[in-house]
Amino acid sequence: MAALRGPDPVLTLAPMQDVTDLAFWRLMARYGGADVYWTEYFRVHGVSRPEKFILESIIHNPTGKPVVAQMIGNDIPALVRTAKELQQYPIAAIDLNLGCPAPVVYRKCAGGGLLREPNRIDSILGALRDACSVPFTVKTRLGFESPGEFDALLGIFAKHAIDLLTVHGRTVVQMYRPGVRYDLIAHAAHTLRCPVLANGNVHGPVQALKLLAETKACGLMIGRGAIRNPWLFDQIRQHRRGEKIFLPTGRQVLAYIHELWEAEVTLDVPELAQAQRLKKFMNFIGEGVPQAEQFLHEIRRVETRADFFRVCTTHLDHDQPMDLEPALS
Ligand SMILES: Cc1cc2nc3c(=O)[nH]c(=O)nc-3n(C[C@H](O)[C@H](O)[C@H](O)COP(=O)(O)O)c2cc1C
Repeated sequence: MAALRGPDPVLTLAPMQDVTDLAFWRLMARYGGADVYWTEYFRVHGVSRPEKFILESIIHNPTGKPVVAQMIGNDIPALVRTAKELQQYPIAAIDLNLGCPAPVVYRKCAGGGLLREPNRIDSILGALRDACSVPFTVKTRLGFESPGEFDALLGIFAKHAIDLLTVHGRTVVQMYRPGVRYDLIAHAAHTLRCPVLANGNVHGPVQALKLLAETKACGLMIGRGAIRNPWLFDQIRQHRRGEKIFLPTGRQVLAYIHELWEAEVTLDVPELAQAQRLKKFMNFIGEGVPQAEQFLHEIRRVETRADFFRVCTTHLDHDQPMDLEPALS
C-alpha cells in the first residue's frame, strides 16, 4: 500500500463502530487528522448489502486522505461478493476484521471469533486475496484465548501475502483490559514482509514515538486516543520533527466538545437522545480531564444540552494547557 510506505510513520484513525462516521472524520481532519481512515465494519452475510451510510462516508470522504473499507463476517461467497462491490468505490484497500470481541459477534464466529478457527481464516484469506485488485489488509488481535496463538496466525497471514497487518496487541478475551503486548507487535513487524500497524492504547505523542521505535511498526492506528485528543495526530508529527508539542487549553477542549455535539447530534431526536449520543464520546474524553471520575460521574447523569455544557464548562472553562492523557494509561 503506497499510502503506508511513506518516509514518515503513517498515522491512521481506527475503525470504530458508531463513531467513525463521515461527520467524525470531517472533525478529525479539521484538527490535523490521520493519514488514512478506516470505515467502521460492513456486516457481511448471505443476503447483506453494504450499509448505505458507510458507503456515503466513502463517496463523500471529506478528509482528502485514503479510506480503507473494513468488512466483518465469515461467509466466503458473501465476503467475495462484498469485496468486489466495495472495490467499485474510491477505497485504498479492503480490510478484514479479525478482532471484534463483542460476544454477539464472536459467538457467530466472526470478528475475533474467527481466531479460534485458523483453518477458516486460511480459506477466507485465500478467497479474498483473489477477489481483491486493491490492496488487501487484515486487522487482528493476538489470538482468542492466548497470545500463544499468534505465531500460527502470522503464518497464515504470510501465506496469503496480505498487504498490511494491523495488530491490536490484546487477545479477544482480554477485551480492552490493560496489558497491550507491544513486544508481540514488534515480533509481527519483524516476522512479516508486509507493513505492520501498531494498535492499542496509543495515548500521547511521546509514548507514540517510543512505540514506533520499539515495535518497528510502519505506523500507528489510533482509536480512543483520537476521540479524547483530536490534536494527537499533529502532536505526534510535531514531536517527530522535534518541534514544541501544542497543548490545547481547557477552553479549546471545550470548543472541541461543542463541535462534536454539532457534528454528531441530529435535531430530529429528543434532547435526551442527543445527550446520550454525546456521552458515548465523553466516556473517552472524560478520561483525559483532571478529576476524571467526578467529571464522568456528573456527565453520565445529564439529560439536557444545557446541563451537559454546564458540566463541561465547570471543568474546562480555563486557560491551562491540557495533555489529555488518561490518568491510568
Ligand atoms: C467504540 C468502538 C468501536 C469499535 N469498532 C470497531 C470496528 O468497527 N472495527 C474494528 O476493527 N475495530 C473496532 N474497534 C476497535 C478499535 O479499532 C481499536 O482496535 C481499539 O479501540 C484499540 O485501539 P485504541 O486503544 O487506540 O482505541 C472499536 C473500538 C471502540 C472503542
